[in-house]
Amino acid sequence: MKKDFLSIFDLTKEEIINTFEIAKDMKADRRKYAEALKGEALALIFEKPSLRTRTSFDIGIQQLGGYSLYLSPNEISLGKRESVHDVAKNLERMVQGIMIRTFGHHIVEDMAKYARIPIINGLTDYSHPCQAMADFMTLYEKRNGDLKGMKLVYVGDGNNVAHSLMACGARLGVDVTVNCPRGFEPNLIAFQDATEAAKATGAKIQVVHCPKEACKDADVIYTDVWASMGQESEAAARKKLFMDYQVNDTLMSYAKKDAYFMHCLPAHRGDEVTDSVIDSPQSIVFDEAENRLHAQKAIVYQLMKK
Ligand code: CP
Ligand code: NVA
Repeated sequence: MKKDFLSIFDLTKEEIINTFEIAKDMKADRRKYAEALKGEALALIFEKPSLRTRTSFDIGIQQLGGYSLYLSPNEISLGKRESVHDVAKNLERMVQGIMIRTFGHHIVEDMAKYARIPIINGLTDYSHPCQAMADFMTLYEKRNGDLKGMKLVYVGDGNNVAHSLMACGARLGVDVTVNCPRGFEPNLIAFQDATEAAKATGAKIQVVHCPKEACKDADVIYTDVWASMGQESEAAARKKLFMDYQVNDTLMSYAKKDAYFMHCLPAHRGDEVTDSVIDSPQSIVFDEAENRLHAQKAIVYQLMKK
């Protein structure tokens, strides 16, 4: 049966750790896998902009011996020019895998239902599982594989990135607190899933509304933009509501002295994070960005290898 990568919610702890180990092996020697997916084609459908996701999937599949096909927002118009079903049924005849970045999460689920080839979620309004895999891989490396008992505090909008971080942290035994303004909490289903998964690992999953105090003793402070792609019209209004949740030196001083600062990027410097924090020695944002490449190569390899 073909497998997809739609959500962290579908993965076990063992599958996540196994992916980190493959990714680390690939990172240590990229030539070792140079023919792993020789001649296989991965279509990259983008309905939103991207730097990291596009580059890492494009370069990643090539480093595995395959090649990519970039399909821009104007080219396909998923569900408008042609139905999701028909796009899936066409592409499965020509390529061996599809990565999609889109708006509604149901689109990646529908694509997975219709296509006989693996589908990878490269971000939807609901989740960003590739990001969470790269982020926790980064912590896994920094902590030499020992994540147990870590406390990650996500400060800002309870969005797609927050959902995937909760899902991944819960499965790995990392406490995840989403610290957000009222009205911007994560989706209830995502919270309930994480809470359920956390029962097996003992992780604590919380949603709170106290910008600074909740960061006390955190091992990681994580933030993301206040208005995600598709919410641009709300950006000005959100800026006022979120200002207390800016990650600045004062907020960082509540966390542990050696706490990491993380951000999926792109960052809106001066809004959700100050230059002083993102450019500080505590910031590991470019390690996360680099690990998008390695983590996704491990995902693509596992889904597409024969
Ligand atoms: N973090 C992330 O997904 O970056 P892009 O939007 O540039 O792909
Ligand atoms: N929450 C952001 C993440 C970008 C990588 C967005 O969806 O725009």
